[in-house]
Amino acid sequence: MTAPSDPDPSRPPDEGSPPNPRRRKLLVAATGVAGGAGVAGASIPFIASMTPSERAHAAGAPVDAEFSRLEPGGLLTTEWRGRPVWILRRTEAVLKALQDPAHLSKLVDPDSKVASQQPAYAGNAWRSIEPSYLVVVPICTHLGCIPTFRPEVAPPDLGADWHGGLFCPCHGSRFDLAGRVYRNVPAPTNLVVPPHRYLGETKVRIGEDPEGAA
Ligand code: FES
Repeated sequence: MTAPSDPDPSRPPDEGSPPNPRRRKLLVAATGVAGGAGVAGASIPFIASMTPSERAHAAGAPVDAEFSRLEPGGLLTTEWRGRPVWILRRTEAVLKALQDPAHLSKLVDPDSKVASQQPAYAGNAWRSIEPSYLVVVPICTHLGCIPTFRPEVAPPDLGADWHGGLFCPCHGSRFDLAGRVYRNVPAPTNLVVPPHRYLGETKVRIGEDPEGAA
């Protein structure tokens, strides 16, 4: 007897149900389209025409992202190893708020002690190499939904103590603008910061550590 298939992979997973790889794939594709790349619709003919080096790139080679047009407070989406990667440009006000002791007391892992969630060179107060920029994989560490980017302060639906961050619509997990998870939500750990290094002031290579990094 064959196992029943998920009738609708786009629906939010139920609390306690196992991750659904088919659903995660769909969400990654959707994010790529939202970022303006048109990835989902173009993927089949594109892959068929790939050269060997392009195929290696799709399988996990580093990806370069240029972000000179990214405004303070803005977000740029790219993709690495089939997963979305966000580059957030943080303002001075956000950087200050991220260090507020009252804010830190609300986080599960404010000092990024869980080593699996970021490279050692991003295990600092900003979870980044350049404080103004956060490079992060926006896949919720609960069951893999894509959080929404909510940079506004105290919106009606998130409450007066919301200072901007990422909100997961599936089961309500909340992350700050360093990708750190708040206490008392389903997600257990901070979002993943991928390996990355800067090639210039407005260009980053995702998937490669800085020279000499451990
Ligand atoms: S997937 Fe459950 S809170 Fe994000």
